[in-house]
Amino acid sequence: MTLWEVIEARRSIRAFQDRPVEPEKLEAILRAANRAPSAGNLQAYEIHVFSDPATREALAVAALGQSFVARVPVVLLFTAHAARAAKYGRRGAELYCVQDATVAAAYAQLAATALGLATCWVGAFDEAAVRRVAGLPAGERPLVILPVGYAAENPPPTPRRPLSDLVHRH
Ligand SMILES: Cc1cc2nc3c(=O)[nH]c(=O)nc-3n(C[C@H](O)[C@H](O)[C@H](O)COP(=O)(O)O)c2cc1C
Repeated sequence: MTLWEVIEARRSIRAFQDRPVEPEKLEAILRAANRAPSAGNLQAYEIHVFSDPATREALAVAALGQSFVARVPVVLLFTAHAARAAKYGRRGAELYCVQDATVAAAYAQLAATALGLATCWVGAFDEAAVRRVAGLPAGERPLVILPVGYAAENPPPTPRRPLSDLVHRH
């Protein structure tokens, strides 16, 4: 697949096959995320990998009952790690670490798509509950829950704003 084909093929998938993710594919996704840009190359984020069914179930509950989170073989959690961006003061702690984590998650989504896998960016969750389930230290803020698996649905592309509305040419 070319990059353009990957971008066009990616969908938010919320129904998954009961089929494991090959370890080498998971590693490739994690390596792709690790190639994402970050402020000052400080990589002020962390990636947590969950495959234990009970923990995935607890994450689904923490994600306000989005049950598909429990029905995938692997769930990734991207967290902002503010202290790693301390060099940039308040902007690093409030913004760069968030941007670092989210761009890495976007890379992971595209990498998964390129490997024939599916994901769904899950941002609606109870932060305190996710912290508890994932056992996050105080300095990490959970930002993106990313279930990864093989799609059991094939939804059409979702609409987008026209470029004439989205893009402001100056
Ligand atoms: C910041 C953010 C938060 C999101 N949170 C959720 C979520 O909690 N649950 C969900 O099912 N999808 C969630 N999505 C996925 C969007 O609904 C989806 O990307 C959008 O409808 C466009 O569809 P597409 O990804 O298939 O192109 C989220 C996406 C983003 C970027």
